[in-house]
Amino acid sequence: MSLAESRDFAASVPNDLAAYWLPFTPNRAFKKAPRLIARAKDMHYYTPDGRAVLDGTAGLWCTNAGHNRQPIVEAIQRQAAELDYAPAFQFAHPKSFELASRVAALAPENLDHVFFCNSGSEAVDTALKIALAYHNVRGQGSRTRLIGRERGYHGVGFGGISVGGIVANRRYFGGMLTGVDHLPHTYNREQQAFSRGEPEWGAHLADELERIVALHDASTIAAVIVEPMAGSTGVLPAPKGYLQRLRQICDKYGILLIFDEVITGFGRLGYAFAAERYGVKPDMITFAKGITSGSVPMGGVIVRDEIHDAFMTGPEHAIELFHGYTYSAHPLACAAGLATLDLYREEGLFERARKLEPLWADAAMSLKGLPNVVDIRTVGLVAGIDLASRPDGVGRRATEVMDRAFREENVMVRITGDTLALSPPLIISESQIGEVFEKVARAIKAVG
Ligand SMILES: Cc1ncc(COP(=O)(O)O)c(C=O)c1O
Repeated sequence: MSLAESRDFAASVPNDLAAYWLPFTPNRAFKKAPRLIARAKDMHYYTPDGRAVLDGTAGLWCTNAGHNRQPIVEAIQRQAAELDYAPAFQFAHPKSFELASRVAALAPENLDHVFFCNSGSEAVDTALKIALAYHNVRGQGSRTRLIGRERGYHGVGFGGISVGGIVANRRYFGGMLTGVDHLPHTYNREQQAFSRGEPEWGAHLADELERIVALHDASTIAAVIVEPMAGSTGVLPAPKGYLQRLRQICDKYGILLIFDEVITGFGRLGYAFAAERYGVKPDMITFAKGITSGSVPMGGVIVRDEIHDAFMTGPEHAIELFHGYTYSAHPLACAAGLATLDLYREEGLFERARKLEPLWADAAMSLKGLPNVVDIRTVGLVAGIDLASRPDGVGRRATEVMDRAFREENVMVRITGDTLALSPPLIISESQIGEVFEKVARAIKAVG
C-alpha cells in the first residue's frame, strides 16, 4: 500500500463506533463485527480495505442507475457550486419546476402535479394528508379513515406505521393514528409457492375492501394505500387482477387509491411506475429512492389533477395546503433527479429491466431445491427467497447468509426476517445476474 493509499484507508475506518446509533440494525452485534463500505462505482461497493462487493440490492432498493455515475456526480457538484439552497416556501428555483414536469411526464395521464419532500416516509405522510384535506375542501370531511394492508411498509412516520402492517414497526409506538383499518396481506405459500411474476391466486383478497366499507361505511373512508409489490416485508408481488379489483371498489365508493411506489417506481418492475405495468391508475403515487438513484435524499407525491384542482379554489393570496418541508425540492436533489432521469432515458434502463426479467427469474428459481429454501418469488428485477427459520429464532439463518455473502462471497443481499431480498441496479449485466445467484447459492449452502 502506498503512503497515500494507507492514508485513505485510515481515514475510511472509524476508530470509535459508540456514538452512531444505526437504524433498523442490531447495533451491538454490528459493532462487534461491522460491515463497512467505503466507496462505490457502478455495480460494486468497496470495503475500506478495497474488497469489491457486487451490489445485489441497489443499496436499499434505490441506486437504480448504479453507483457514482459520472453525470449524476457532476450535476450535484455543479449545483452545489451554483445554488446551495433556496427557501422552499414562498420562493422556488427553476430546477424544481423542471423536475416536477419530468416526473409528471413519466406518470399515468392526469397525474400531473408533484409535491416534493425528502424521503419515502415523508411522501407517505404527505399523500395521506392530501387525501384527508382533499375530502375536507370539497365538503366531505367525514371521510377520515385510512386503509392500509397487513405486512405493508410505508416508512416510519406516524402516518406510515399506522397504515403499515409490520408488527415490529408498530407495537412499541402507542396508539398511532386512529380510524385506520387494514386489508389482509396477499401471501399464501400453499397457493403461490415459487411463482414467477404475479401469482395466479389472490385477486379475491381485494374484495375484503367491500367488507371494510360495509363495516365503517364509505362516507367515513378517505383512502386506501398499498404497495403494488410489497417490498420490505419480503417481496410479495400483487396477485393477478388484485390491483384492478381494488381500483374498481375504490371507484364504486369514492375512495382514493394511493400506490406507494417508493420501491416500485423508476424501473424496478420494468416501467417508470408499476401503475403502468398493471394498467391501473391510482389517484396518487408516492416515490423516493430511485428518483435520484439514491444519491441525494428526495421523495414526493404525484397527484391526480382533480385532487390538486380541488385545492385551487379559495382566494388567490391564501395558502392552499398547509404542508411542506424546509428541504422540499432541495436544489441538490433536483439536480441529481434531473441527471438521473436523463440517465434512465439515455440508457433505456426501465426497458432493460423489463427485458432482463425472464433471465433474472430463471436465475432466481435455480435456487429451488437448495437446503432450507422454502419459497422464491420474482417480479421485475426483484427476488425474494424464503429460508426456513432456525428453531432458535426467526431471522438467524438469513442473517448468517447475508453476513457470509458479504464477507466470503463478495455480494450484498438484504434480509427481512428469514427472507433474502435481491434488487440490483438496473445496469446489471447478464453475467452479473448469474454471479449474484451463484454467490447467494454458495452462501446458503455454506450456512446450512
Ligand atoms: C414502499 C415504501 N414506502 C416508504 C418507504 C420509506 O422510505 P424512507 O426510508 O425513504 O423513509 C419505503 C422504504 O423502504 C418503502 O419501501
